[in-house]
Amino acid sequence: MKLLLHKISGRKWKPAKPNSRWQDNPRFVEYFQTQMSTAHETGYAGALRSATGDRPLPRAVSVGAGKGNKERALVKAGLVEHFDLYEVSADRIAESQRLAAEEGLSANFDEHLADALEEDIVERYDLVLWLSALHHMFDVDKALEWSVRALKPGGFLLIYEYVGPTRLQWHPTETRCARRFLKENHDLVGVDPKRVRRGTTFRRYKQFLRDPSEAPQSNLIPAAYERHTGEAMQILGGSAIHLCGGFVTGLEDQDPTIHDRVIALDKDLRNQGHYHFGYGLWQKPT
Ligand SMILES: C[S@@+](CC[C@H](N)C(=O)[O-])C[C@H]1O[C@@H](n2cnc3c(N)ncnc32)[C@H](O)[C@@H]1O
Repeated sequence: MKLLLHKISGRKWKPAKPNSRWQDNPRFVEYFQTQMSTAHETGYAGALRSATGDRPLPRAVSVGAGKGNKERALVKAGLVEHFDLYEVSADRIAESQRLAAEEGLSANFDEHLADALEEDIVERYDLVLWLSALHHMFDVDKALEWSVRALKPGGFLLIYEYVGPTRLQWHPTETRCARRFLKENHDLVGVDPKRVRRGTTFRRYKQFLRDPSEAPQSNLIPAAYERHTGEAMQILGGSAIHLCGGFVTGLEDQDPTIHDRVIALDKDLRNQGHYHFGYGLWQKPT
């Protein structure tokens, strides 16, 4: 059953068009990066560089690594020497291997077409990395327990994840705020506010059929992180950016304030308990 779910989820995951996503917008990226760290190159890489004293970590693992783009960036930045990459999609593993070879980095990576959580790994790694993949796990508590066990004493757990509503079914409050924003800025954005839709049982079921591994327990990640590390995850926000950000990307020439206004709404929603992204960097005690 699990294999079948992995097969389905791998096939249905497709890349978005360039410049249509909030991730293509430097202002939104900076908003998240600087919350994680303002040191070095900012973001989780800057935070890791500060935490390690700029010494490369010898052995790391990334679960749900996709094409390994972010892992290659960490190797090239001198933050990690070697990665084990676990991925259940054969296509993405093949692409990851091809890209590593193209960049002369094959020796820095071992790719595994497998679910890492099926392997009992004890104190092997200096870094366990979850980037937009922990929210695909069917049991996030078990995934975090596995992560802590897989770390050597003194090793780091680094997580930057979607921690918002399960199955991407938006809360009525965040939907209402996003729609109001799109309505108030309709002359500039030109998008029908109804394109942002609140969650329903029917859409939840459709989402499950499209990708059974999409956010089954995403909302449980912060509590599970705290249970296994004893530290609180940093809640970054992201609700308004996730719902409206793609629509305003590229409009800064026409209204230089548009992104800051989305970010202000994002902070407002976060203060009301609506958020989509969380970050954590934790060092296992020696
Ligand atoms: C949203 S993608 C993120 C990819 C990459 N980490 C990134 O940030 O671009 C999630 C990835 O997790 C993979 N995945 C899902 N369940 C998995 C599992 N149990 N073990 C390994 N990989 C898994 C999917 O195939 C997919 O490539």
